Amino acid sequence: MSQNNTFYITTPIYYPSDNLHIGHAYTTVAADAMARFKRLTGHEVWFLTGSDEHGQKIERTAKAKGQSPIEYVDKIVAGFENLWDKLKITNDDFIRTTEERHQRTVQKIFQQLYDQGDIYKAGYKGWYCTPCETFWTDARLEEGNCPDCGRPVEFMEEESYFFRMSKYASRLLQHIDDNPEFIQPVSRRNEMVSFINSGLEDLCVSRTTFDWGIQVPFDHKHVIYVWIDALTNYISALDYGSEDESKYNKFWPADVHLMAKDIVRFHAIIWPIILMAAELPLPKQVIAHGWLLLEGGKMSKSKGNVVDPLVLIDKYGLDAIRYYLLRELPFGSDGYYSESALVQRINQDLANDLGNLFNRTAAMVKKYFDGHLEKPTALEGPDQEFIELAQKTPQTVENLMERMDISNALAAVWQLVGRANKYLEETSPWALARDPERKQRCNDVLYNVAECMRMVTVMVTPIMPDFPPRAWPLLGLEGQTELHTWDSLTWGNMAKTTMQKGKPLFPRIDLETLEE
Ligand code: ME8
Repeated sequence: MSQNNTFYITTPIYYPSDNLHIGHAYTTVAADAMARFKRLTGHEVWFLTGSDEHGQKIERTAKAKGQSPIEYVDKIVAGFENLWDKLKITNDDFIRTTEERHQRTVQKIFQQLYDQGDIYKAGYKGWYCTPCETFWTDARLEEGNCPDCGRPVEFMEEESYFFRMSKYASRLLQHIDDNPEFIQPVSRRNEMVSFINSGLEDLCVSRTTFDWGIQVPFDHKHVIYVWIDALTNYISALDYGSEDESKYNKFWPADVHLMAKDIVRFHAIIWPIILMAAELPLPKQVIAHGWLLLEGGKMSKSKGNVVDPLVLIDKYGLDAIRYYLLRELPFGSDGYYSESALVQRINQDLANDLGNLFNRTAAMVKKYFDGHLEKPTALEGPDQEFIELAQKTPQTVENLMERMDISNALAAVWQLVGRANKYLEETSPWALARDPERKQRCNDVLYNVAECMRMVTVMVTPIMPDFPPRAWPLLGLEGQTELHTWDSLTWGNMAKTTMQKGKPLFPRIDLETLEE
C-alpha cells in the first residue's frame, strides 16, 4: 500500500493513431500541474503517461500508409515525447504497450484470471466499434451505431474469451457507495452507477481477426482485447509482477487516474473489476474532466479543425498556453477553445494583471529606492485587508487543487493579483515618493506588493513553469530558494530584497498585427 506522502497520478495512454492535439495536451498539462503542485507541497510523486499502441485501428492505419505497425507507431510516439518535452511535462516514466515489461504483466494477469475461472471461452456474436475498440450488444446501439461516437459498428462472429464482469458488479457498486470520492465529479459517478445498474454483461476480451496485440499466453490464435491491455499499463509501469516490485509497493494504489469523460467507463468499471478479480487494491480516485470543444463541434482530422499545440507554443509561449488551458475549462464541464479567447486571456490576465503588477512595481522600486525594500514598520489604510487576503490565498488554492479544480485555484490567485493592483491604486506609491516625509510609507506599500508577488510566483509555479525563472531575478530573490517553497507562503517571510527592473514579462498581443 502506498504511504501517505506518495502521490501517483496518471494520464490515459493515448492512441498513436494520429498526432496529438490540444485536447490531449489539456489532460497531460492538468496532470502535470497536479504532479508539480504535489511535489511543491512535499509529496514523493510518480507521474505516468504513455502510448496505447495495439489494436485493429493502428494495424489498419499503418497498413494504409504502407508501414509495419511498429514502424508506424515508433514515429508517432516520438512525436508524443517531443510534444511533452515542449510543454515541459515532468512525467517520471513513459510506458509503451509494445514494451516487454508491459506485455509480461498483461499476460500474467490474463493467465491468472483464466486459471481462477474468471476468463472463459465461448462463441461471440455481436457488434464492434473499431475506432473506440469497444464491444456493444444490440440493446446498447443507437440507431444501429456506436452509442459513444455515433459511427457504424461491425458485426463479429468468432470464438472469444470472456471476462466474468457480472460476477463483480455488486461489489463494485458497494465500493462506489462506500467511497464517495472514488469517481469524480458526481455527475460521472451517477452515470457509472446507472450504467452498472442497467446490467453488466461479461466482456469479450480477445480477438482473432487481427494480430497486432499481445497474445493470449495459452492460445496463440487470440490477441488480448486492447482495453485489458491498455488499462494494465498503470501497474506494469510500476513493475507489478516482476522480480522487483518495490515501485509498485511504494506507489500503488494510484491516487488519481485522470482522463476525459469519454473513457471514464473503462477506468471506473472495467479496470476496478480487473483489479478486484486479481485481488489488487483499487485506485483511490478516477477523475474525468470535460471536453475541449471547438465552435464547430469536436476536433477531428476529417473536419480539418485540429489545433496543434506545438504551433500555439511557438506563437504565444508555453506559459500562456498552459495558463489558458487550465483556466478556461471549468472543472468537470466542457469548454470551448478559441484563439481569440486565448489572446484575450493573454492580454487581460497575463499582460494587464500579472505582468503589469510585476513590471510597474519593479520599476517604481528601482526608481524610488534603487531596488531596495525593507520590512514595513506600520500598518495603514487598506494594508490589513490586503495582507489578510494574501495570507489566506495559499490555503484556498491548496483546497481547490486537492479537488483538481485548477481553474478555480487560478481564479483565486488572480483575485489576489487584482487586489494587489487595486492596492497600488489606493495607496499611490508614485505620490508618496514625491513627499520626503512619506518615504517610509512608500517603502511599506511597495514591500507589501513585493511580498504578495513572491507568494503569487510560488503559487503559479505548477501551472507556468517558465514564469518563476523570470520573476525571481526581478524580485531579487533568485538565489533564495527557501522563499520559493510552498512552506514559505507565510506573510512577511521575505526580510528585505533588492529588486531589478526587467523587460515586460507578458507583452500585449495585437490581434490585428497578428492577423497580418
Ligand atoms: O482513449 N478534450 O486514447 P485517446 C479533452 N488509448 N480531452 C481530450 C480531447 C478533447 N477534445 N481529446 C482527447 C484512448 N482528449 C485510450 C486510452 S487509457 C488506459 C487508454 C484526451 O488517444 C482525454 O484525456 O483516444 C481523453 O480521455 C483521451 O485524450 C483519449 O485519448
